[in-house]
Amino acid sequence: MRNSLLVSVAAISLLSAAGPAFADGRLSVLCGAEEPHCAALEAAFEAKTGIDVSMVRKSTGEILAQVRAEKDNPKVDVWWGGTGDPQLQAAEEGLLEPYTSPALPDLLGWAQNFASVASGQATGIYAGALGIGYNSELLAQKGVPAPQCWADLIKEDYRGEIQIADPNSSGTAYTALATLVQLFDDKEAFTYLVALDKNVNSYTKSGSAPIKAAARGETMIGISFMHDMVTQKQAGFPIEIVAPCEGTGYEIGGVSIIKGARNIDNAKLFVDFALSPEGQGAGAAAGMNQVPSNVNSVVPPEAPDITTIKLIDYDFATYGTAEYRTYLLGRFAEQVRVIE
Ligand code: G6P
Repeated sequence: MRNSLLVSVAAISLLSAAGPAFADGRLSVLCGAEEPHCAALEAAFEAKTGIDVSMVRKSTGEILAQVRAEKDNPKVDVWWGGTGDPQLQAAEEGLLEPYTSPALPDLLGWAQNFASVASGQATGIYAGALGIGYNSELLAQKGVPAPQCWADLIKEDYRGEIQIADPNSSGTAYTALATLVQLFDDKEAFTYLVALDKNVNSYTKSGSAPIKAAARGETMIGISFMHDMVTQKQAGFPIEIVAPCEGTGYEIGGVSIIKGARNIDNAKLFVDFALSPEGQGAGAAAGMNQVPSNVNSVVPPEAPDITTIKLIDYDFATYGTAEYRTYLLGRFAEQVRVIE
């Protein structure tokens, strides 16, 4: 009897010792970047720390929706990647945990600025500009000129030839919406989007889907981030990349810890890693071409040079607010298209 009691006590204490040790070894991450990018970062972090990461890829608007839905019982620890505006909205809605990584002083100005707009609840990991990509073989077959400007895309030449993502699910498409509103005024931007709608054959869920479809010859033109176009070009597809003549917007991808994260210490380790040259190098090694935020990170040789592209001064503090995102997405549904 005494022996069996001793055994049970020992078993209980073993269990309780095993409990936290098990929890200590886990991390749940929602990833908003390309699948290979997510997988490369996951593998590099697991190899370095031994922490078991569960990583799921979703588009940025979908991540915001999940984090909001799980607010009272968060199941995810870290949000890594995807465009910055929805993360700024999450910060404003109190869904994120403030965390200042020791890596912050090593980051480029735009990434530090992003952290301050997010009140320390998210930090910039990469940047990339929006562009127009076209399949040069389909263009030649149809015998139409190559688009050079946003204004070209509403011409009849491209009727039914364009893809862009749905700005509700995709951060890329929201960046496009906010870019057009900043380049032109609201009225002009929405008149343009209504005209563009005539040439759009599909609004995709994810932001890189349009350029992947153009690469495969399923559509002539895709509006996506230029670094996603570079990836398709590197894979050998006949894609040409255009920086729109009027100027273009850009994303700052962010990383943040979810408020109430169960594995908070591991989440902090992940954020530190995601901001380190080592973590940022994992993306480049997987063929990704964003500009990394750490000054000591190696910039992928084919990354579009954002210092030579005509960029607008994208106003993250305004277009990352709940008020503006709700307004722009509402107006898009009212005037342009309700996407099922
Ligand atoms: C691609 C890009 C990322 C970007 C993401 C946004 O994966 O490589 O730089 O952050 O798209 O995805 P989404 O589906 O939300 O437009």
